[in-house]
Amino acid sequence: MMSAPFDFVSLLPAGLPPPAARWTGLARFSFVGGNNDPEQVPLEGLIAAVDAVLAREGRTLATYGLANGPQGYLRLREFLQVKLQRDAGIACAADDLLIVSGSLQALDLVNQTLLARGDTVIVEQETYQGALTRLGRLGVNTVGIPLDHEGLRMDALASALADLKQRGVRPKYIYTIPTVQNPTGTITPEARRAELLKVSETYGVPIVEDDCYADLIWDGQRPPAIYAMSKTGGVIHIGSFSKSIAPALRVGFIVAPWAMLSRMLALKTDAGSGALEQMVLAEYCAQHFATHVPKLTKGLRAKLDTLMEALNEQFGTSAEFEVPKGGIFLWIKLPDQVDALKLYQAALAAGVSINPGPEWSTDKAWSKSRLRLCFASPTHDQIREGVAVLAEVCRKEFGVPTRSANVEARG
Ligand SMILES: Cc1ncc(COP(=O)(O)O)c(C=O)c1O
Repeated sequence: MMSAPFDFVSLLPAGLPPPAARWTGLARFSFVGGNNDPEQVPLEGLIAAVDAVLAREGRTLATYGLANGPQGYLRLREFLQVKLQRDAGIACAADDLLIVSGSLQALDLVNQTLLARGDTVIVEQETYQGALTRLGRLGVNTVGIPLDHEGLRMDALASALADLKQRGVRPKYIYTIPTVQNPTGTITPEARRAELLKVSETYGVPIVEDDCYADLIWDGQRPPAIYAMSKTGGVIHIGSFSKSIAPALRVGFIVAPWAMLSRMLALKTDAGSGALEQMVLAEYCAQHFATHVPKLTKGLRAKLDTLMEALNEQFGTSAEFEVPKGGIFLWIKLPDQVDALKLYQAALAAGVSINPGPEWSTDKAWSKSRLRLCFASPTHDQIREGVAVLAEVCRKEFGVPTRSANVEARG
């Protein structure tokens, strides 16, 4: 006789997110997520690093945190200390760094430390969906600030902060992705960063700087980190190896003043992030990071070119976009009649997955006809074929692009 399945549902507390859907695999043409190029994972170097580091230090795995304390593998923090000084102008000690399980854990720790239900956080109007969903789940009000080609618009930020102040609201932080913004691909120049710091200090609102794409800049010109420019220490800097090496490793980091880092560390109750990943990264990166990254960005730039070419060919003037300054995403505007959420469903049924704009924006109406495509993980052929299928679906559903859009564009 079959017994009745145990009823967990009656035990669930209020306020849980909806249940997760079961994984059904990637679409044939997958332009979603922050996935990387599988061909560019530096396998040989990683294999050699695993061998070397395990042979030398493998027995330290017997101790939680490799006997390096709770902030992460010391050699990885030392690598980051040198790299952050060289690339981002950040002068920090290895002890100012906390290694975490991807920058998502960094966001969780920042949020757990600073936020309570009903708080307010300032975000870029177009921003990382993972940050928006986290804030939504915590019952936090998000105020979206419009962007221009240099990132956060300072006039809009200053007036939003003044308005909030008048209403007695002091936001808990300003969340920004200043170096290759997700999804728009802009880089905030140094002068704008200085303005941002000034506004943040005037209103006493700290900045959370999410810099996970900062290694992937086409011309390699990375401005100093906002963290490095701050004289008051009101900045939390977050980084990751997900975009420069591989996201499945789940290794990110936080640089913050001890007053904040010590609070986040107290909330990081997982007994340390995966140690083998940290050991392998430290071993690999010390020798190869500086040569790996230019190769990676060159390959990514070639894929972006293929994507832009395919869009021009298939969508003509119906697809508008600015060339991103680096990274793995293209942010696209389609004609107003296109509903990106509906396009998402129809395209998925045809084997193409895209990220609909409204999921990456606080302004659902403004982003209705926008979408984000990740060009890093599909092959060049998949990019070309996938865009052709997407155009066909879009034409069928919304009447655009017209069949000869690219010809019309030239005529
Ligand atoms: C802006 C931003 N922050 C954080 C993350 C999460 O990255 P990680 O893999 O380091 O957790 C992503 C991933 O796409 C991202 O785009």
